[in-house]
Amino acid sequence: MKYRAIIFDLDGVICSTDEYHYAAWKQLAKAIGVTDFSRADSELQRGVSRMESLEIILRKSDRHFTDEEKVALAEQKNQIYKSMLATMSPKDLSESVRSTLNALKERGLKLAIGSSSKNTSFILERLGLGDFFDAVADGNMISRGKPDPEVFLKAAELLHLEPRECLVVEDAHAGIQAALAGGFDAAGVGGAASYSGTTYPLTSISDLVAIAL
Ligand code: BG6
Ligand code: MG
Repeated sequence: MKYRAIIFDLDGVICSTDEYHYAAWKQLAKAIGVTDFSRADSELQRGVSRMESLEIILRKSDRHFTDEEKVALAEQKNQIYKSMLATMSPKDLSESVRSTLNALKERGLKLAIGSSSKNTSFILERLGLGDFFDAVADGNMISRGKPDPEVFLKAAELLHLEPRECLVVEDAHAGIQAALAGGFDAAGVGGAASYSGTTYPLTSISDLVAIAL
């Protein structure tokens, strides 16, 4: 086999939480008087931490916010976001993701999550994947977000594998950069398929089965 493990980003790869993130940040932006938060701004938030995502909105505001106020704003957004996540269920796992994960596992690959999200466990539980992965590295375990490779290196460490033995799957530019910086090959879905440096552009997540073997 070409790789011994696959490390998946969560948001935008395993599940489509992007719309919830966008709607929750949009609501928060409006509450602080930022009325022009757009989908293009939301694209810049892909893959980066909650606090860095907040900074992308605050750049559009004339107001100054203290660190305490920023923490409170991020918490406010997270409450809105989590109320949206509460409706998620195993039905929100797409058939292509489900069948690909099962096929890779059956072929003996170790499977892990490497996500910036501090809601990773909550989301995996909602999707019925609470016990599925061999390792989960998330936003609660790291001090530097993507494009720093820390979360992927943590996942590889939890798997007891070297980066070159693992393939990372990402939808974000920051995520592809993080993977490459850590010494991993990177497969890109969605917009990340066309980033320079992406080792394998995917047209469907199911392409992974042929790549990984
Ligand atoms: C990433 C998302 O997976 O997680 C980002 O792509 C998000 O948009 C980040 O900001 C942090 O998520 P959370 O759930 O900890 O707020
Ligand atoms: Mg993502």
